[in-house]
Amino acid sequence: MSTTLNQATRLIDFTVRGDERGSLVALESGSDTIPFDVKRVYYIYGTQADVTRGKHAHYALKQVLTCVSGSCDILLDDGKERKTVRLNTPKKGLFIDGFIWREMSNFSPDCVLLVLASEHYDEADYVRDYQRFLTEASR
Ligand code: TYD
Repeated sequence: MSTTLNQATRLIDFTVRGDERGSLVALESGSDTIPFDVKRVYYIYGTQADVTRGKHAHYALKQVLTCVSGSCDILLDDGKERKTVRLNTPKKGLFIDGFIWREMSNFSPDCVLLVLASEHYDEADYVRDYQRFLTEASR
């Protein structure tokens, strides 16, 4: 089950098509921007600045997270190392593919966190207990 932050997470630069009318970002399954088939899209907004969300890991799910508006912090933890990635632009996405604990916090009032996911919602794919995560991550 063990994977490292470097193997399992990376920031992806989206192509921005901008002109005098504004900007357009297109995300397509199977491309460099979204390296999996998207089965589910969800978004989080209206989260207070002092709230932490997430606090779980996934066994199989692949995700790309992007702030289409505003900003938030994504804490990533592989069981040995932690790092925090600040998402504050719709021009970049955070790809997570692996058994990584994640927490989302420091939401700006205008934050809309868009998540593209490789699987339908399945509670059985979640580990929500941090001690269990550490045990399984060390295997
Ligand atoms: P939750 O896992 O608590 O969100 P977060 O990871 O941001 O803290 O999800 C909140 C509720 O929404 C919970 O009842 C599960 C449900 N949910 C779905 O029904 N489908 C989904 O795709 C997601 C992500 C959550």
